[in-house]
Amino acid sequence: MKRLLFIFLSLFSFAVVANAQDIVGGLEPIGAITGFSRSDQGITFNCQDKSEVRLYILAPDLIRVRASFKKALPARDHSWAIAKTDWDSVRWNIQEQPDGFIITTDELEVVVHRSPLLIEFRDARNHQTINSDERPMMSDAHGVKREMMFDPSAGTFIAATKKLGFEEHFYGLGEKAAHLDRRRAFFKNWNADTPAYAEGTDPIYQTVPFYLGLQRGAAYGIFFDNSYRSYFDFGHSSQRYAAFAAEGGEMNYYFFWGPSIKKILGRYADLTGHMPMPPLWALGNQQSRWSYYPDTLVEEVVRRYREEDLPLDVIHLDIDYMQDYRVFTWNRERFPDPDGLINRLGQQGVKVVTIVDPGVKYQPPSHDVQSQSVIYQHIELTSQDRNYYVFNGGFFDNYFQKRKNGQLFIAKVWPGESVFVDFTLENARRWWGDLHRAYTDHGVAGIWNDMNEPSDFVDQTGKNQMDVVSYDEGENSTHAKNRNVFALLEARATYEGLERLQPDRRPYIITRAGYAGIQRYSTMWTGDTVSNWETLALSVPVFQSLGLSGEIFVGSDVGGFIGRGNGELLTRAYEVSFLAPFCRNHKVIDGYDQEPWRFGKYYEDVIRKYLKLRYRLLPFLYTTLEEGHRTGLPLFRPLVLNYQTDESVLNLDDEFMVGSDLLVAPVFAANQTSRMVYLPVGAWYDYWTGRKISGGTMIRADAPLETVPVYVRAGSIIPLWPQMNHVGERAVDQITFEIYTDDGGHASTTLYEDDGTSPAYMRGAFRRTSFDVARQGSAFQIKLNTPQGNYQPSPRNFLFRLRTNLAPRQVTVDGRPLLMVSDQRKQGWSREAGVVAVRVTDDGRAHQILVR
Ligand code: GLC
Repeated sequence: MKRLLFIFLSLFSFAVVANAQDIVGGLEPIGAITGFSRSDQGITFNCQDKSEVRLYILAPDLIRVRASFKKALPARDHSWAIAKTDWDSVRWNIQEQPDGFIITTDELEVVVHRSPLLIEFRDARNHQTINSDERPMMSDAHGVKREMMFDPSAGTFIAATKKLGFEEHFYGLGEKAAHLDRRRAFFKNWNADTPAYAEGTDPIYQTVPFYLGLQRGAAYGIFFDNSYRSYFDFGHSSQRYAAFAAEGGEMNYYFFWGPSIKKILGRYADLTGHMPMPPLWALGNQQSRWSYYPDTLVEEVVRRYREEDLPLDVIHLDIDYMQDYRVFTWNRERFPDPDGLINRLGQQGVKVVTIVDPGVKYQPPSHDVQSQSVIYQHIELTSQDRNYYVFNGGFFDNYFQKRKNGQLFIAKVWPGESVFVDFTLENARRWWGDLHRAYTDHGVAGIWNDMNEPSDFVDQTGKNQMDVVSYDEGENSTHAKNRNVFALLEARATYEGLERLQPDRRPYIITRAGYAGIQRYSTMWTGDTVSNWETLALSVPVFQSLGLSGEIFVGSDVGGFIGRGNGELLTRAYEVSFLAPFCRNHKVIDGYDQEPWRFGKYYEDVIRKYLKLRYRLLPFLYTTLEEGHRTGLPLFRPLVLNYQTDESVLNLDDEFMVGSDLLVAPVFAANQTSRMVYLPVGAWYDYWTGRKISGGTMIRADAPLETVPVYVRAGSIIPLWPQMNHVGERAVDQITFEIYTDDGGHASTTLYEDDGTSPAYMRGAFRRTSFDVARQGSAFQIKLNTPQGNYQPSPRNFLFRLRTNLAPRQVTVDGRPLLMVSDQRKQGWSREAGVVAVRVTDDGRAHQILVR
C-alpha cells in the first residue's frame, strides 16, 4: 500500500512540475545604488553596474518600477496595454538614509535599500511591510536561460522575486486553467490555441500578467507589463519567494496597494482601461454552432427557439458563412441575401454576430490589379475566386506581416495558406476596422474574433513565426515581443472600426486571445472547452480569475464545445452560465447537437426556467455590469472579492457571487441532488423558498437538477423586469423590487438604466436611482431617492415587494394614504403570503413610502 502511495505521489508531483522551470537560478542581480536624481515623474537610481531603476509615483497607492540592466533606461517608453499615462500629480517626498531611501506618499512607504538593491513596500499608516524583494531584480548576464527561451536573440531574460508570506494567497493572472488561489502554482504566458484544455494545461489563450497577493486580509497587486513570454512562480519552486520573469523587454511593473481588492481593481481599470458598456442585448441569451448554414437553417434555429418559448437575442455565424473562409466575404450559395436574413431575424428580436479570423487567405491576384477596394458597391457579396479584395488591399498597402528577410509570412489556418495583418501599424488597423463595413452594411450586430493567438496550423508554438517582424512604433520587433499583444491590437482595430462605422452604436466584440487591457475593446469567451463535468467545474475559477484581472464580460461555450454532452450536463452548465455575462451555447462541427431542446423536454423545461430567470434579472445584471464599467469590479465574483477577510473563502471556487447580492452554488457532477454550500457571515435568503438562514457556516442545500442553490444577501433589493424572450420584446412597464431586509430591517440598492445601445451614457444619458428600506419600530420606510443623470425611461410602475410578517394597517406615499387593493397587479398596496406589495407610478422623483 505504502509503495503504491509512493508511486502515486511521484507520478502526481511529476505531473505538477512538468511545466515548471527555474526562472531565477543563475541570474545576475542588479548592482547597488550609487546615486539618484528626482524629477516630476519620480526618482531615478543609478547603480554600480550602470543599471538604472526608476520609480514613478502615479498615485498614492500606485508606484511603477522600471529597471534596465547594465545600461540607462531608454527614452522610449511604450505599452499597448496602458490606457492612462496622465496621472494627477501626487504628494510624495524622499528621505535619504545611510543604507537607502524612503519614498512616502499618503498611503505607501517605499523603502529602497542601497546594497543590495532591494525594494520594500510598506503601509504608510503603520509602517508594516506589505511586500518586499526577496533578492535584487536580476538579468541573465551569462545566458543561462537561453535554452528555455523562445528566441534568445530577441531579448535578455529578466526576473524579480518577492518574499513569500506564510499565509499569502494569490489571485488573478487572467485566463488560467487552474483553481482560484494561485499559491504553489507555476504559470507561463504565451497566447496559445489549446483546444480541449483541462485543469493544468498552461498556457491557454490569453496573457494578463496581473496578480493580487492577499495576506491576513490585506491585498496588493502587481502588474508586470511585459508582453514577452513571461513566467509566474507563486511559491512553486520555493516557500521563500514568489517570482516573475520574462524572456526580454524591461523589468517594468506596477505595484498597487489596497488593502482592499476592490480598490486595486479600480486602479487597475484606470491604468489599463475601463470596459465600455456593451449593448444591453449582449446580456441576452446567445446561440452558436460551427456552423449554422445555409440561411434557412439559421432561420430554423431561431424559429425553434421561438416555438419552444425560449429567450434568445443573438445567433452567431461561424466560419462557413464565408466564401472558402475568406474573411469579409459572404458565401453566395449559402447566404445569397444577408440583408434579408438579418432583417427577418431582427423582426423576431434576434441579432447576428459573425466570426472574423485574423488569417487572410493568401491569394495573389490572378491578373494585374492594384487596389480593388471600391469597384463594386458590395464587393463582399461578389465572387472572390480570382481576386480577393482583402488580400489585394493589404498586399498593395503593405499591411501584412513579413519575415526578417522581407518575405510575406504565410501561416496555415482555415482558408489554407493565409497571411496576418501587422496590427501594430496604425494604417493597417484603420484599414482592417473599415473592412467591417462588409458586415455592418448588412446589419450584423457584433464581431467574434477567433484564432487570434494567432493560431497557425503549421506550428502552434510560434516557432514558425519567430522571425516575423512587426513595425511596433518603429521598433521593428519580432514575434517574441508581439505574439501576446496580437489579439489586443486586432480587437482595437475592430473596435475602432465599428465605432467609426456606427458612431451611434456600442461596438460588441468577443475575442479568444488577449493581453492586459483587452477589456477596453472586447468581451471574451474561454475557447474550446470539453463537454465534461471537470471542465464545467473549472469554468467557475476561470471566470472568477478573469474578473480579478480586469475582464468583466466573460463566459464559456454553454454545454462545452468538444465531445458529447448530455441533458444533465447541459442543464447544469446553464445553471452556471445563466448568470455569467456571456451566455452562449456553442458546439464543435462534429459534436452532438446541444441546443436547449436537443435532449428532451425534461431538460429543456429546466433550461427554460433559468433562461427566463436571467431575463427577469436583466436590470440587476445590467446595473452590476455598469458598476464594472465604472469601478472595474466584475459581475461574476469569487467570494474572496466581497469577503476578503473571511478565511473560509480564500480558495472557494465551487460557488460564486453575482455582484454583491446573489450567491450561487452550482452542481458539477452527475446524479447529485444536494451539496454543501458556504455562506459568509450575515443573513441570507434561500432564493427558492424565501427561508432566512444565518451565514458564517456551511449548510447542506437541496440541489436536484431543477434547482441550483441560489441565495440572496440579506440587506439587498433585487430589481426584476417583466418576463420577455428578447431585449425589447415588450416595454418595461414595471420594475419589481424584491426586498430582502437584514436583521436590522435595512435593505438598499441602486438601479442603473440607459438606452442600452448608444454611447450616450458617456455623456450623462443614464439614470441611476437608489432605494433604501429601513424598519422604524413596527413600520417600514421605503425611500426612492432623486435619480441622477438625464435618461428618460418610458412610463412604468415600481412594484416593491417586502417580506414581512407584519400586517400593516396603512401604506402612505409622502404622507398620503395609498389605496389597498386585492392584488399586486393593481395600483395601491396589497398583502399575500408574507409579502406586502406596494405598486406606484414612477414619476422620476423622490418619494417616501411608509408601510405601517
Ligand atoms: C475555433 C473556435 C471555435 C470555432 C472554430 C471554428 O476552434 O474556438 O469556437 O467554432 O474555431 O471557427
